[in-house]
Amino acid sequence: MSVLLCSALLACCVIGIASGKPQKGQGRITATKGLKKLTVGIVGDYGWTGWNPANEYFCNEIKPIFAANNITLPREVQKDCDASDRSVIHNATALQTSTSNYIGQICAMKNCSAFISVGDNFYDSGVDFTTTGINRFQEAWVDMYAQGIFEYTPWYQCLGNHDIVQGQAGVDFETKLAPLYDDRWYFGTEGLPYYTYDLVGHDWTATFVVLDSDCFIDKYQKDTSPYNNNYTISCHQDTQTQVDFLAETFANSNADWKFLQLHHPMLSSHANYTELWPLISVVEQHNGVVLNGHDHCAAHYYGNNTNFVLSGAAGFPDLVDCNYGVPLGPYVKFLGSNSKAAANGFVTMEISSKELVFEYYIRNMQYDGGDLYPVKNDMQPSYSFKVKEHAW
Ligand SMILES: *[C@@H]1O[C@H](CO)[C@@H](O)[C@H](O)[C@H]1NC(C)=O
Ligand SMILES: *[C@@H]1O[C@H](CO)[C@@H](O)[C@H](O)[C@H]1NC(C)=O
Ligand SMILES: *[C@@H]1O[C@H](CO)[C@@H](O)[C@H](O)[C@H]1NC(C)=O
Ligand SMILES: *[C@@H]1O[C@H](CO)[C@@H](O)[C@H](O)[C@H]1NC(C)=O
Ligand SMILES: *[C@@H]1O[C@H](CO)[C@@H](O)[C@H](O)[C@H]1NC(C)=O
Ligand SMILES: *[C@@H]1O[C@H](CO)[C@@H](O)[C@H](O)[C@H]1NC(C)=O
Repeated sequence: MSVLLCSALLACCVIGIASGKPQKGQGRITATKGLKKLTVGIVGDYGWTGWNPANEYFCNEIKPIFAANNITLPREVQKDCDASDRSVIHNATALQTSTSNYIGQICAMKNCSAFISVGDNFYDSGVDFTTTGINRFQEAWVDMYAQGIFEYTPWYQCLGNHDIVQGQAGVDFETKLAPLYDDRWYFGTEGLPYYTYDLVGHDWTATFVVLDSDCFIDKYQKDTSPYNNNYTISCHQDTQTQVDFLAETFANSNADWKFLQLHHPMLSSHANYTELWPLISVVEQHNGVVLNGHDHCAAHYYGNNTNFVLSGAAGFPDLVDCNYGVPLGPYVKFLGSNSKAAANGFVTMEISSKELVFEYYIRNMQYDGGDLYPVKNDMQPSYSFKVKEHAW
């Protein structure tokens, strides 16, 4: 049955490409198989465009009156009143757009076969099955990543904290509806918030496990958290399911390379989410690599015998998240930030049987006549590192 399903999907995909344009909703696009060397783009924390925050008068004047009358604000309204996010919306939208062009340029040059998302796909409150949600999905993702290399390239998606503000309705949109809406949006085959996929080369295989780290974060269980909803309450009680899924998938995989793809960082320059240790411990046991976002900058950390690739710089970069470019310890290998600004950018990974090559592409951020982050030649990586030892 599963063999049949697989070959049917593959046929769809092949026909789609052969006829020039994949038909929407006709089958999942996946990365090309059988290459000696395959390149992916790792992208995180990007989805600002089209966000309409709640109006200032409501947030400043009416919200307190409602609170005094014991009226509970829906979480998404609470989040859409977030003052600091509201203050950056103009710049964030401009920066997502110019960074998407930059990613497209680099990935055309490097022939990326897939994009790997580490979440926060839609600020501030995700998308759900409403007119607003549908229009956001179209504007911030479908149209934003549509030209050139983006046209036929699959995105292996992942949930971040902004994606789950609407609870189950937000999760359902991204895991169940989005893959039917646009066949470049991949979210596994089971409609669950966690899944696994393999990228398969000529003489190598890479196993990826995508999890929803929102379920692990203790402070999201507080009643006052905008991320506290029935979805996070329920999946927090059952984090073992995701730990077991990771452990079993890695144990059953003979792949040369193994990756944990999730939103939150265990190792960070801003806040270490140590509650993720049960997951990281499994990665360490298999000599895997962690791909994460959440912090709005790009960085490379090494700790607990594990490489952590932070790619959270495709939307609004924040120098606090990379500690103003100052390493907090020897675990810090690279920070895409200086004392004045954090940089936009993303990370590419070339996979072959011999090695993984990570390249950090940091954008020369000319903007409004100024240059927020000067990079002499941003078509070259600002930083790179290799992993040569296979996974176990
Ligand atoms: C709101 O709830 C508090 C605590 O339950 C109560 O003391 C207060 O009278 C309520 N206020 C209104 C306006 O209902
Ligand atoms: C937005 O960008 C402008 C132009 O570079 C800059 O002067 C301003 O400080 C930025 N605003 C925010 C909120 O980051
Ligand atoms: C680019 O990647 C595609 C698969 O995504 C592959 O078929 C093609 O051979 C690659 N081209 C080059 C020049 O590497
Ligand atoms: C969560 O579920 C409970 C029980 O079904 C319900 O009473 C409550 O309103 C729900 N809360 C939210 C935020 O959906
Ligand atoms: C995160 O953990 C590392 C390693 O234990 C530590 O050196 C660093 O200070 C921590 N970062 C923060 C922001 O607390
Ligand atoms: C992970 O590494 C940090 C920093 O070296 C260390 O303090 C911590 O004990 C390690 N965690 C575990 C569970 O081994």
